[in-house]
Amino acid sequence: MEDSIVLFFLCLLFVLLPQSIFCASFTPLDGFFIDCGGSNPTKFDDSRVFKPDTSIPDVRFPASSDVISVAGLDSSSSPTLFDSARVFTRISVYTVRTRQIGRHWLRLHFSPVQNSHYDLNSAVFSVVANGITLLHGFSFSKSSAGSSHLLKEYVIEVEGSSSKDLVLTFSPWNGSAAFINGIEIVSMPKDFFPSSIVPVPLGPEVVISSQIAFETAFRVNMGGPLLSPKNDSLWRTWEPDQPYILNPACARKVFINPNLVKYPPGESVEIAPNWVYATAQEMADANVTEQRFNISWAFQVEEGFSYLIRLHFCDIVSMVLNSLIFNVYINNQSALNSFDLSSKTMALSSAYYIDFITDVSKGSNQVLLQVGPPNLRNLPSNAILNGLEIMKMSNPSQSLDGNLGVLYNNSKNSEKKIWVVLAISCFSAGFVVLVVILLAFFLYLKHPKKSEDPTSTWLPLPTHVGNSDSKVSICSFASTAQSHGLGRILSFSEIREATKNFDESLVLGVGGFGKVYKGVLDNGVMVAVKRGNPGSRQGLTEFRTEILMLSRLRHRHLVSLTGYCEEQNEMILVYEYMARGPLRKHLYGSNLPPLSWKQRLEICIGAAKGLHYLHTGAADIIIHRDVKTTNILLDENFTAKVADFGLSKLGPSLDQTHVSTAVKGSFGYLDPEVRVIVRR
Ligand SMILES: *[C@@H]1O[C@H](CO)[C@@H](O)[C@H](O)[C@H]1NC(C)=O
Ligand SMILES: *[C@@H]1O[C@H](CO)[C@@H](O)[C@H](O)[C@H]1NC(C)=O
Ligand SMILES: *[C@@H]1O[C@H](CO)[C@@H](O)[C@H](O)[C@H]1NC(C)=O
Ligand SMILES: *[C@@H]1O[C@H](CO)[C@@H](O)[C@H](O)[C@H]1NC(C)=O
Ligand SMILES: *[C@@H]1O[C@H](CO)[C@@H](O)[C@H](O)[C@H]1NC(C)=O
Ligand SMILES: *[C@@H]1O[C@H](CO)[C@@H](O)[C@H](O)[C@H]1NC(C)=O
Repeated sequence: MEDSIVLFFLCLLFVLLPQSIFCASFTPLDGFFIDCGGSNPTKFDDSRVFKPDTSIPDVRFPASSDVISVAGLDSSSSPTLFDSARVFTRISVYTVRTRQIGRHWLRLHFSPVQNSHYDLNSAVFSVVANGITLLHGFSFSKSSAGSSHLLKEYVIEVEGSSSKDLVLTFSPWNGSAAFINGIEIVSMPKDFFPSSIVPVPLGPEVVISSQIAFETAFRVNMGGPLLSPKNDSLWRTWEPDQPYILNPACARKVFINPNLVKYPPGESVEIAPNWVYATAQEMADANVTEQRFNISWAFQVEEGFSYLIRLHFCDIVSMVLNSLIFNVYINNQSALNSFDLSSKTMALSSAYYIDFITDVSKGSNQVLLQVGPPNLRNLPSNAILNGLEIMKMSNPSQSLDGNLGVLYNNSKNSEKKIWVVLAISCFSAGFVVLVVILLAFFLYLKHPKKSEDPTSTWLPLPTHVGNSDSKVSICSFASTAQSHGLGRILSFSEIREATKNFDESLVLGVGGFGKVYKGVLDNGVMVAVKRGNPGSRQGLTEFRTEILMLSRLRHRHLVSLTGYCEEQNEMILVYEYMARGPLRKHLYGSNLPPLSWKQRLEICIGAAKGLHYLHTGAADIIIHRDVKTTNILLDENFTAKVADFGLSKLGPSLDQTHVSTAVKGSFGYLDPEVRVIVRR
């Protein structure tokens, strides 16, 4: 009775939760639009209203004695942000009390207002925000490249410990003046930047601490128009890629209706608007039988800094899944190799982004981005890019402009430049090592051996998890997995012990997902341990699908899940051990004795029984979608068991009529009809 009440509420939750998650759009808690020195609110056509700094309670502007407001010359027309400015002749501070801690967009608008007192065009000054040097020896005339106003965009952390203040310090240089026309502060969605990112050239992930500040260097909409703040929910600007593309003849613009762009969980319009994903550059048909070239873009950046590079992809060119596979290079180094976009999105026209970090060393001042075809001959060659963001990262001396912090009088600065570079690289290397050691130590402390109750090896199966929409179940997975007892949750230390710290000699096989190790749990049970590539969250959906599916199934001809581990960014699945491995190994490519006809027949019947159970026996219909000989495993008695549920899907119930026709699976095992389309 109690159970059914709990179940009822859980079902209710499943019905209500997804809508509330997917429909709620992000509304920034902090949205300060400050018209510095202005006297009337200035309305923009994109819903922003810039208010005079004197009229916003949470903004403390620099004391009046330091301030001179300058009125624009043509006060007859409607007021704009650039009619007025605050001018400072000594170090002055703006303080904004934010409502939320965490990262914020900070935008600074500069326009040298004509006046008789100051030559703002050639004024030289520095700007520091919460200890980060944003501008050092900035001069409008040198930075604006002839335009009448300048927008600088930053990402700054507002820390919670003391106060939620964002403090902006303007320091005029040597008898010069400093000025500012407008300040924007908008809170960012949580987790906008990941906590660690893969570097290029490829190596261990680099930790991104919250103290690191960013400056937008480039934000580009490949193959598309200029997107103004009007077209972006966070008031960003996306520029077209024409100025940066090196070989325009190699590329062709493609686009779809922006309303067709799908945002899977984890993606949203706050990452990038649908207009970005709806356009792309793809490889143009060169008059050659085999297309072997890259599309290249080059961006001039300041040397000696690290850059976060965010690539936006959306497959708007393919007819079917798994047909767009390409390489991505950053500064001539491989970033993505034979990247199958649909293995990430599981759908066409679906938004996807991925981040990399690259160092632009002294002597080079560009980021070169290239996309091109892989060396696969049986696929049509194409490569695309939909959008690109390049964010400059603050350096260890907390600066985004030059290596010398203006207010931070580091004794090392007086040494020769080369020592600065050396010290910085040593510092960052040491920091990474320290973080790794601390993490390892923490892990060790947190998981004393033998923490699990040995009797709790397997909990009864849940009856109904969610409704028949697998997507919904997967999204709500994390919160309900535990409460439903989806298999045994194993600690990372337990798994490390079972596999002798992932000993290479215990590797049973290597797949797209990662390596599979043979292991022995502390209760003596032999298991196969499938470990997703450490640190990488790629394949998270498949991982969760597999747990969800397998936890609900018990059958003689299905491989059962002993447990799983989702700790410290690890994705580990633990299965019953199948002594004789995949069927494929017994058919070809090894010197195992050939199977007898009786064995072959029994294996076929066994696998068919497993599939039949999936289609009819379980509470919901399950469609495996990736049946092949590597996914049929044999135990020591040659009993066949179906494995690898990462691509499977809950089918329609009998009274439903619609069926998803999306194509999934491995190339070479798809329906022949499907293959024809893939090959075009
Ligand atoms: C300030 O002026 C002095 C003398 O003109 C000059 O030597 C110095 O470099 C200047 N400093 C800055 C920061 O501009
Ligand atoms: C920008 O948004 C406006 C309406 O908000 C729309 O009419 C326009 O087509 C959009 N332009 C682009 C280039 O996205
Ligand atoms: C491709 O070849 C055709 C016929 O030879 C020619 O008309 C066309 O201009 C060529 N296109 C390109 C892009 O070279
Ligand atoms: C990439 O390679 C090209 C051609 O070999 C070279 O001209 C360019 O300088 C390289 N760029 C970088 C960033 O290494
Ligand atoms: C694309 O660029 C990368 C890096 O510069 C290079 O290694 C690769 O050979 C290029 N591919 C083609 C097909 O030109
Ligand atoms: C930097 O340090 C030097 C010597 O330590 C000192 O003379 C100078 O005034 C300092 N400059 C600033 C801007 O603090």
